[in-house]
Amino acid sequence: MGSDRRTGTPHPPSVTYRRPPLVAAVQVSRTFGAGRRAVVAVHGATCTIEPDARIAISGVSGSGKSTLLHLFAGLDQPTSGSLEWPAQDHGGAPGSYDVATVFQGASLIPSLTARENAALPLVLQGIGQGIAEDRADLALTDLGVGGFGGKLPEELSGGQAQRVAVARAVATSPRLILADEPTGQLDHRAAQRVVDVLLHTADRLGAALVVSTHDPQVAHRLVTPWRMHQGRLDTHLDEPSCRRS
Ligand SMILES: Nc1ncnc2c1ncn2[C@@H]1O[C@H](COP(=O)(O)OP(=O)(O)O)[C@@H](O)[C@H]1O
Ligand SMILES: [Mg+2]
Repeated sequence: MGSDRRTGTPHPPSVTYRRPPLVAAVQVSRTFGAGRRAVVAVHGATCTIEPDARIAISGVSGSGKSTLLHLFAGLDQPTSGSLEWPAQDHGGAPGSYDVATVFQGASLIPSLTARENAALPLVLQGIGQGIAEDRADLALTDLGVGGFGGKLPEELSGGQAQRVAVARAVATSPRLILADEPTGQLDHRAAQRVVDVLLHTADRLGAALVVSTHDPQVAHRLVTPWRMHQGRLDTHLDEPSCRRS
């Protein structure tokens, strides 16, 4: 504990340094196409993602969840509004070390085994192949697909591939985990296990976690409910006046 240099009085433990948010969005919109064919995928989203956030983004298919997560990851740029990463030293878009994204749908490299896929981000960070694969195996085992490390993506079911993609994300040490419908192809038990691993990893790393889902049982596991509806983000669902049935 630190102490005041003049008086020697210890700082009370309640005085903690407040870390800046990982993401700060003000009136962020993302439009695809132009003219009459323009699609406003995200419309005027204003929100912050704090370093210890546990957020579930619900919303039907097409409501803009994936687009919003890609914006948070810095993989896409807003067409209007302000999107910043205040916790980054340079304030700009985060690097691949800082954000782990579990993409919706197929995202594994077809020519690499499940183990090699899960180890790849670590290898790209300069970790030796052997250590990276050991860590990948641990993550695969946590997710219940430890027996599939040697399989190619085409030999996996959709649900197994999805869990390998989650393993690839949680094997790294990001500050922000963005998981886009990570349980979409899983039965209830496997879905709960994926959420367990995501929450445990976020706790272990002190990372923020944002999960998009249309499974209420997944959403309920996260503290903060957000909703996307026709491109509009509602972050006030937990306030009684806005609560919906
Ligand atoms: N690259 C793109 N080009 C054109 N339209 C897109 C693109 N990505 C998403 N959209 C459109 O934006 C809307 C929101 O899509 P998306 O963010 O994928 O929603 P969700 O993830 O909630 O299903 C949809 O109407 C979709 O068709
Ligand atoms: Mg989506």
